[in-house]
Amino acid sequence: MTVNLVIGTQWGDEGKGKVVDYFSKDADYVVRYQGGSNAGHTIKVGEEVYKLHLIPSGVIQGKTGVIGNGVVLDPEMLIKEIDELKKRGIKLKLLIGDRTNIIMPYHKILDGAEEKYLGDKKIGTTKRGIGPCYSDKVARKGIRAIDLIDTNTLSKKLDDIIPIKQRILDVYNIDKKLNKKEILDTYSKYGEKIKKYITTTHIELNKAVKNNKNIILEGAQGTMLDVDYGTYPFTTSSHTIAGGSSIGTGIGPKHIDDIIGIVKAYTTRVGEGPLPTELFDKNGKYLQQKGHEFGTTTSRPRRCGWLDLVVVNHSCMISGITKLAITKLDVLDGLSTVKICTHYSLDGKKIDFFPADIEDVKQCKPVYKEFKGWRKIKESSSGFSDLPEEAQKYLKFIEKKLEVPIAIVSIGPGRKETIEV
Ligand code: GDP
Ligand code: IMO
Ligand code: MG
Repeated sequence: MTVNLVIGTQWGDEGKGKVVDYFSKDADYVVRYQGGSNAGHTIKVGEEVYKLHLIPSGVIQGKTGVIGNGVVLDPEMLIKEIDELKKRGIKLKLLIGDRTNIIMPYHKILDGAEEKYLGDKKIGTTKRGIGPCYSDKVARKGIRAIDLIDTNTLSKKLDDIIPIKQRILDVYNIDKKLNKKEILDTYSKYGEKIKKYITTTHIELNKAVKNNKNIILEGAQGTMLDVDYGTYPFTTSSHTIAGGSSIGTGIGPKHIDDIIGIVKAYTTRVGEGPLPTELFDKNGKYLQQKGHEFGTTTSRPRRCGWLDLVVVNHSCMISGITKLAITKLDVLDGLSTVKICTHYSLDGKKIDFFPADIEDVKQCKPVYKEFKGWRKIKESSSGFSDLPEEAQKYLKFIEKKLEVPIAIVSIGPGRKETIEV
């Protein structure tokens, strides 16, 4: 029996979909536990490419996907995703936590309105309603999955919430009248469609732990988007670090075996906020084009930079990462020099931790160690020793600096392009 957790160590899009799919061959359950359809996880199987936003990546390998209680669920998006997967021949096994908070139309409208109001101070959200939905959850004004299957409860809750949301929309000068009947009808229909999946997932998962099943917990986003430990306020609204998995699944932390931190071999970020190692030169363009760095959810170009070990070290510490999965090493092929940031310089002082004050982060100048580049990683590489010597040195440096062993190295988007170390 194992419960393994897979999380992003940077600003998201590290390749969680690919790695979770790879490990899913031995899993019984694959569980999303935070975030919502702001996530975009890509799985490539042969020539088929799947982009999942809500449904756990393990369903592609035929495993039971669980949407845990910590997720914020947009039922419209979920139904579209279910229909698309079924059309593509995936036999879906899905469970949804009864306590999962639901993204309502006013959350999406407010996400857009708040961003517009912020102007050039905007966060650059995915406009999927994530922040407003988590805000309502914490303010105890949320609608939960269980409420969708009881029209009376839903109706009463909407009576309380809609007038407040309408007043907020008016403050933002948004010309939109929320229609209670329309929302009640639409969301009751969503409830009808998804009620067969809604259950006590926390009980199911704890039974699975007792029965020695294999479980993979699939993180969304990455440490630097964590609402407490990321580049606040340029973060998402959930706990993307390891601790979030226990809250979002209802599986106690002592049951978790390995915590696998995914590290993209360089750094990317989509949206606003500081990115200390960002490259504005031809190397940045090279990484963006060779790595196809465009958002899976919003298609926005991702900003690119060198690997930042101050960031990854921060992640390893906060999440207690036990193994590393390095992805997209192949994207660095062909560069004459590659760099790794080991420290920052702030006000003339060398620092090796990530500052809390966003103004300090903006002033941090990365201090780099340079490595000789390599020509091309052979697609047929199946062991660490098949990698070019310079690439091996690059990886060994990461492992030594972080004091965490590398378990896998990904050298392409497909399943086979994976090296177990
Ligand atoms: P996630 O959000 O962490 O699941 O990552 P995304 O799916 O948003 O973005 C990662 C992208 O990189 C996807 O297009 C993957 O197919 C692709 N990818 C994953 N691993 C590798 C790799 O090792 N090499 C290359 N070239 N692409 C990869
Ligand atoms: P995956 O799981 C990359 C970013 C947004 C924005 C900030 C807040 O695919 O790695 P939100 O809509 O969550 O309120 O936006 O977080 N963001 C992501 N960036 N990958 C993601 O998910 C992201 N989910 C949110 O771009 O900067
Ligand atoms: Mg993504």
